[in-house]
Amino acid sequence: MTAQIAAAYVVIGNPIAHSKSPDIHAHFAAETGQDMRYARLLAPLDGFVATVQEFIGQGGRGANVTVPFKLEAYALANSLTARAQAAGAVNTLKFDGGDILGDNTDGVGLVTDIAHNAGFDLAHKKILLLGAGGAARGVLLPLLERQPAQLTIANRTAAKAQQLVQQFQPYSGAGCILSACGFAEATQQYDLVINATSASLQAELPPLAASVFGPATLAYDMMYGPQPTIFMQFAASHGARVRDGLGMLVEQAAESFFIWRGVRPGTDAVFAALRAQL
Ligand code: ATR
Repeated sequence: MTAQIAAAYVVIGNPIAHSKSPDIHAHFAAETGQDMRYARLLAPLDGFVATVQEFIGQGGRGANVTVPFKLEAYALANSLTARAQAAGAVNTLKFDGGDILGDNTDGVGLVTDIAHNAGFDLAHKKILLLGAGGAARGVLLPLLERQPAQLTIANRTAAKAQQLVQQFQPYSGAGCILSACGFAEATQQYDLVINATSASLQAELPPLAASVFGPATLAYDMMYGPQPTIFMQFAASHGARVRDGLGMLVEQAAESFFIWRGVRPGTDAVFAALRAQL
């Protein structure tokens, strides 16, 4: 491990070789004139905490955390932001003296990509969120903060969606109807449909009524790849505008960069470069 830690910032995961984060942060550092190095750090599956502590001991200032360690990072942090608490998971650690701050930038990354890059104002909209696992939980607070009119969580296992509704009801504004259902019950047309299930990984499609999509609907898949996902293909075939999760990846990284360095990088050039490499 020691050889890898010539950087003050790392992304920690297992596996980690595929991570695009070092490329993204190298772009950000060059663009903002920040002198920072950022590397990949593979932690053993049973050695996340020891890996982080060794990294801190060697002068580490911050880390992104990816699969499968986001829950362990949450447990390790000795202070948590409200959005990390709500997400129940941490993707960004900041080391400051003896303090380990845990944050979660996934949700704000999604919302920034939708609101800023896709130009879609979430206020007073009807949102359908597909999935009730970690990816869905991670984005709920930032979505609710944008004050949609309606947020429906639909999941294969409806009881898990119901649990999320109970957890997030206190964050839901007076003007927002927050509810849960199975896929079969989601039939009305929505302004925004977000796929936060892991179905696209297996090239599967949540069994969704075509009636949820219309010409004004934005269909967003948190996954990305060289081709549109099967969810995006289905949504587009029913008239929706579609977008994949590449912008979310770049925006969550920009937010982490801001937390560490206090400087907000531009994201357009990195996004275009990553898109060209897919
Ligand atoms: P993640 O951290 O990616 O959210 P997770 O916590 O394992 O991963 O959750 C996976 C989500 O994708 C769940 O909502 C899961 O539905 P269940 O709660 O019913 O298991 C959903 N999911 C996975 N495969 C799916 C499929 N083929 N069709 C529909 N939903 C699927």
